[in-house]
Amino acid sequence: MFPKLLSFALVSGAITLAIFGSGLGSGQAQTPAAPPASSSPAPQVYRPGLGDLMTMTVQPRHTKLGLAGLEKNWVYAAYELHELQEAFDRVVKVVPVYRKTNIAELMPATTKEPMEALAEAIKAGDAAKFTAAYARLTETCNACHHSTERPFVVIQVPKTSPFPDQDFRPVKP
Ligand code: HEC
Repeated sequence: MFPKLLSFALVSGAITLAIFGSGLGSGQAQTPAAPPASSSPAPQVYRPGLGDLMTMTVQPRHTKLGLAGLEKNWVYAAYELHELQEAFDRVVKVVPVYRKTNIAELMPATTKEPMEALAEAIKAGDAAKFTAAYARLTETCNACHHSTERPFVVIQVPKTSPFPDQDFRPVKP
């Protein structure tokens, strides 16, 4: 029994070697790990572009901040102002240079003043000051779009909410 098994093992080993050998000869053995043609390629890390970040993060934060101001919801406005600042900061980190524009310099240079004015207005609960600072921030969005050859991306002060599932009014204590 034992010698029979051994000889079988030897024979099957020889067959394996023969198949492997022919594979080497035809060059197949050099790409043993290649997936079959039908399988999908390996997943890639998702890297949003500047336009994606603007649409996904900056634009909704700007909208929500405006709606918070309309409702005089200062607690939420303070939160959303912070979120907008973080959105700007992440844009700078992910896209420090866009084509010929130094976004890392231009972003804080243009947004700093209206963002600070908004923080003061929110702290004071001053609706008129908020409205004025928010208008300046919105002009800043458009000023940058002009200087980066995107004058057709026109941002305005929102009048209605595109978020049907969120209540922007202050929470009653
Ligand atoms: C420092 C410059 C800069 C500032 C400030 C800026 N943007 Fe942008 N934004 C750009 C550039 C550049 C693009 C075009 C990116 C592209 O085409 O890939 C863009 C694109 C966009 C888009 C995408 C256009 C679309 O409809 O798909 C939106 C929305 C947008 N910005 C909103 C805003 C808002 C809102 C603000 C202000 C709160 C703002 N941006 C401030 C530079 C800026």
